[in-house]
Amino acid sequence: MKILGTGSALPKHTVTNDMLSEYVDTNDEWISTRTGIKSRQIITTERFEELAALAGQRAIEAAGLVPEDIDFIICHNVCNVYVTPSLASLVQGILGIKGPNCPTMDLNSACAGFIYGLDICDAFIETGRAKHILYICAEEVTRMVDWTQRETCVLFGDAAGAMVLGKGEPMLARRLTSTPMPDVIYYRLPCEATPFETGPGIDTHMPMQLKGREVFRMAVTSAQRDITDTIKSAGLTPDDIDHYLLHQANMRIIDAIKQNLDLPDERFHHNIERRGNTSSASIPVLLDEIVREGKVKRGDLLLFNGFGAGFVTGTAIVRY
Ligand code: ACO
Repeated sequence: MKILGTGSALPKHTVTNDMLSEYVDTNDEWISTRTGIKSRQIITTERFEELAALAGQRAIEAAGLVPEDIDFIICHNVCNVYVTPSLASLVQGILGIKGPNCPTMDLNSACAGFIYGLDICDAFIETGRAKHILYICAEEVTRMVDWTQRETCVLFGDAAGAMVLGKGEPMLARRLTSTPMPDVIYYRLPCEATPFETGPGIDTHMPMQLKGREVFRMAVTSAQRDITDTIKSAGLTPDDIDHYLLHQANMRIIDAIKQNLDLPDERFHHNIERRGNTSSASIPVLLDEIVREGKVKRGDLLLFNGFGAGFVTGTAIVRY
């Protein structure tokens, strides 16, 4: 699998920490020292599916292709107003990719989802089932939080990151893990009422809830374990990896992992200070930024690592 082109799209409205203090009892000092976040982009007038499609269009252009070259669209998304049809199907329509020979589907593995989806893309490409996959991770996390809860609403931003994948060298190594811990991070939407449902159910709406300290601990422990194991299983050493792109959830988590591996700062890319936590979009948006800044060259080894609700983790090593 080869990354033929990358793209991203961000909402136009930037919200600083100071601006948030107009809505909840918070301040720049608390947010930046605890998380590293200074500002984030939040959807205002944009249509979410159009943002996802724009990231996809930019990836197609960067790959030197046209929409008709795409023969599979896979989107990763935790939540948007359309439960069905899939985001991938909506994107297909916006990009004008005619059917019926371009299947579409959505995936959801929370904030680690970019890596889960990338593994599926690798399988489809390497078995010859698809030639050019448009893979988009798009999230509007700011619509999953309660904007009166300062513990959660200050952490997130909205974004879409995309790539076009084609034939190349198979993924060098991956490690996907899942441990059932549904109360650590969750968000519940109500379904429609029926005249038959009588049990207590859990159908009540609940904006995003998270046990931040537990997430922090698990993220650092699992990332250290998974990064080391994945590098070893590829027959490499940490020094062989040119670029570490970790889920942008908290700068302190990234710093802890960096210190553990004892590698130069410039190998650990981050944009959390400008983007906030954009869930599964965080890594592909970051990749697109460093590619466009000319920091990545063909042949470089990329390591991706993410974690999220479940509790799920994903780590992958890919040659750019
Ligand atoms: N502004 C000011 N004060 C705040 C805010 C805020 N926005 N939010 C909470 N506080 C207060 C709390 O009320 C508490 O006050 P108290 O001591 O008087 O009770 C105090 O700050 C400490 O709160 P904690 O929740 O214990 O703060 P902590 O140091 O754990 O930081 C954080 C919270 C940033 C969420 C941290 O736990 C963390 O980074 N966790 C891991 C990442 C994470 O959970 N990301 C969320 C998404 S999950 C994902 O991406 C997969």
